Amino acid sequence: MNVVIINGSPRANGTCARLTADLQREHVQTGHSVDVFSVARDHFRPCGGCQRCVQTKVCGITDDDIGRLFAALDAADELHWVAPVYFGAIPAQLKAVIDRMMVIWSRQGGIAADRSRRAFAHLTAASDDPYTDAMLVPLRYASNTLGFTLQVP
Ligand SMILES: Cc1cc2nc3c(=O)[nH]c(=O)nc-3n(C[C@H](O)[C@H](O)[C@H](O)COP(=O)(O)O)c2cc1C
Repeated sequence: MNVVIINGSPRANGTCARLTADLQREHVQTGHSVDVFSVARDHFRPCGGCQRCVQTKVCGITDDDIGRLFAALDAADELHWVAPVYFGAIPAQLKAVIDRMMVIWSRQGGIAADRSRRAFAHLTAASDDPYTDAMLVPLRYASNTLGFTLQVP
């Protein structure tokens, strides 16, 4: 199985990085192939909001790692989001990656018809934070756009 892990923490060596390394190790040990992407280590430019992709079905931003991420997601059987809570939301850097998925949404005319692949969210917080529900909304929307369904316990 091909697994993609997206670490959405801007802190390169924090809690999410450790969680990502644990997830990667577990999957590799059980014979899976794992691609890890990190908003702290990889280069993802934000969507400029031009909306040209709605017409052209291509994104004008090509000088970053989004193409590599999209290729890995195409080939993935399973997706893992790792993210810290930032004031009840996902970090802006992760939201910026999700916003770049507008070109995929545009090509499909919406979320993917086949959403049979599984996605998982691994969220971290400093405390037993009661305000994390909204974090799942963009993760669910992005997962559905990419052809995955977020598994909710
Ligand atoms: C800007 C910012 C906002 C945060 N907001 C919250 C929050 O609302 N609730 C919470 O429990 N922790 C909050 N935290 C703490 C982080 O979610 C927590 O320490 C997380 O494990 C950090 O992961 P990292 O080490 O991968 O960056 C915040 C941290 C930062 C830097």
